[in-house]
Amino acid sequence: MDRFLIKGGRKLSGSVAISGSKNATLPVMAACLLPQGKSILHNVPHLNDIKMMAHVLRVTGARVDSYDHTLEIDSTHCSFFEAPYELVSKMRASIYVMGPLLARFGQAKVSFPGGCAIGTRPVDMHLQAMEALGAEIEIEHGYILARCKKLQGAEINFDKISVGATANALMAAVLAEGETTISNAAREPEIGSLIDVLTAMGAQITGRDTDRLFIRGVTSLQPAVSSMIPDRIEAGTFLIAAALTGSEITVTSCRPEHLTSLLEKLLEAGLNITTAADQIIIQPGSSLKAVDIVTLPYPEFPTDLQAQFMTLMCLAQGNSRIEETIFPDRFMHVAELNRLDASITVEKNIALVKGVPNLSGAQVMATDLRASAALVLAGLAARGETSIARIYHIDRGYEDIEKKLQTLGADIRRIRA
Ligand code: UD1
Repeated sequence: MDRFLIKGGRKLSGSVAISGSKNATLPVMAACLLPQGKSILHNVPHLNDIKMMAHVLRVTGARVDSYDHTLEIDSTHCSFFEAPYELVSKMRASIYVMGPLLARFGQAKVSFPGGCAIGTRPVDMHLQAMEALGAEIEIEHGYILARCKKLQGAEINFDKISVGATANALMAAVLAEGETTISNAAREPEIGSLIDVLTAMGAQITGRDTDRLFIRGVTSLQPAVSSMIPDRIEAGTFLIAAALTGSEITVTSCRPEHLTSLLEKLLEAGLNITTAADQIIIQPGSSLKAVDIVTLPYPEFPTDLQAQFMTLMCLAQGNSRIEETIFPDRFMHVAELNRLDASITVEKNIALVKGVPNLSGAQVMATDLRASAALVLAGLAARGETSIARIYHIDRGYEDIEKKLQTLGADIRRIRA
């Protein structure tokens, strides 16, 4: 297994271009199963999760060709409606094929995703949405079997906000007969981008960017050509890298409006931020102040930046309180950060971070995607050498992270196993 070796303490400088969003691309890839024919997606990041989803689509009979940062997905010959355990267990987002398969073919067999490193992650809301649309659901031998003659428009009221369940409900409802309302829908930019692609395919959806979506079902959709939105979590991770190392950098090819909650917190912490249409310049301030965060659905502070922001708070002046409301157990990075001499305690879903003057390099282990990013950030700021094992997690969600950091001047090397 590869690992990263980082010599910390270097300042970063220059600019970094943000790749296409993983979390926007995954549902859009599944949506390409809805029409017959070839859809083309541009600005697709080179990531293991994308390769995995391509694999899931191929299993259904779709043809997926990839060149440069483009994917061509031809769903003309889809004839197998199953997402098997071997794939779903490796990537939860495989559940996204359920809505499209059910909507187009009237059946889907998808393995239960099970737990993952960031805790128990149920799929009951996905199933609730499919049932509301008229599907019959059976659970058998670890598989979800969903069947229907023709999906029927319905009122779907979610008890809580789920990105995945909103996406799946949308992808099923666009081909249902009649009208569907999704209440308490997720408003994440990745949902907005899915709505744009579905609309380009001929779907009729209103309410984009609100928590109430209206869908008028259509009988068929056409393939679409679309470009993926920039990855707001990658952009946020680079901004925090600069903040941690007291550096000035420019983050380009990003959408500042997708990062409002993070930018507000960085300003509160004393950083200087300048935004333009598609770029953000971050400069150090006179001091780094401790600030509190609470993770909540968009547009509030994203759980996917919690670990990285906690790393920043490790070096802030004062104490900060970090409350995780989306995945209450998402604190695996805490023990690893403490190995680097951070001072963090956790009680239930709240982490209390006592700022320390320095972190010091050590051997640590990546446990999930965003926790790995947090450790890389900590390594960049720590004195001495940090070795991070199990970095396959980071390759799932950050394209060329070490090359991008090297271009900014960081001393980070991948040591091949
Ligand atoms: C997506 C993102 C992930 C991000 C998360 C929250 C992708 C591929 N992944 O994950 O990076 O951290 O949104 O922003 O886009 N829940 C249920 N029942 C369900 C579904 C969800 O109780 O059927 C709960 C979850 O346990 C969690 C909350 O709802 O507490 C939000 O999860 P959700 O938004 O569904 O996360 P994902 O879509 O899996």
